[in-house]
Amino acid sequence: MFNFKKCLVAAFTVATSILFSACGQQVDQNQDATSQPEAKTEASVQAPSFNPPEAFAGKKILVAYYSRPGDNYQVGVIEVGNTKILADMIAQEIGADEFEIKTVKEYPFNYKECTEVAKQEQADNARPELSTKIENLADYDLIFLGYPIWWGDLPMCVYTFLESYDWTGKTIVPFCTSAGNAMTGKETSIPQFAKGATILATGLGIQGARCQADQASVRNDVKSWLSQIGFVAK
Ligand SMILES: Cc1cc2nc3c(=O)[nH]c(=O)nc-3n(C[C@H](O)[C@H](O)[C@H](O)COP(=O)(O)O)c2cc1C
Repeated sequence: MFNFKKCLVAAFTVATSILFSACGQQVDQNQDATSQPEAKTEASVQAPSFNPPEAFAGKKILVAYYSRPGDNYQVGVIEVGNTKILADMIAQEIGADEFEIKTVKEYPFNYKECTEVAKQEQADNARPELSTKIENLADYDLIFLGYPIWWGDLPMCVYTFLESYDWTGKTIVPFCTSAGNAMTGKETSIPQFAKGATILATGLGIQGARCQADQASVRNDVKSWLSQIGFVAK
């Protein structure tokens, strides 16, 4: 059977080597695109354009995410992480609160160094300590969870996050950014770590570079996905 995850990791590994060999040009080309983030002020004053599915009518929704700015894959140095851009868009479209997962020890700014740290953490099944905490999870029934794909998986700090709360009765909706426009399948194991949670498995996967350079089309994908999972356009 076609193994999408293995394929994605392999593609990532090959692409990483290519990227490093052509590093200077790639980084510079993309820095222009990254210096034009979406007009956040406009987004934040816009009214949400979707109502939640009936089962969640009148409930507060949270968009929690981990995202790492700095030197990154395909985009050079970015001030706002790809997943944060996607998280902000989703939160704006549905009128949700946002929560940023942050680690006590920051990951290296340098992309290659970060991949090495992340790989080691994965090998150690580490649980990096977090510096942020949701104080009022009881207020939310529906939690969108966003993360970048790291070595075909969720970053280990996101597992720390999932294991930090009682998720009984809560629904988690995963979304991610990566080198491709897809989820990896790892999201289906989220309830093993988020005890008591139900997962809405139709997650959204967006290529990270598009979040920097192609935000109008990413927003269209967000809207189609929200409709697909039961949100109702106003
Ligand atoms: C440590 C690390 C590991 C990564 N591993 C993968 C991977 O296995 N597959 C993939 O498609 N992209 C991989 N990427 C690329 C990121 O998933 C992608 O750049 C993502 O959009 C970064 O999101 P962020 O800016 O919110 O952190 C990796 C990036 C880093 C920094």
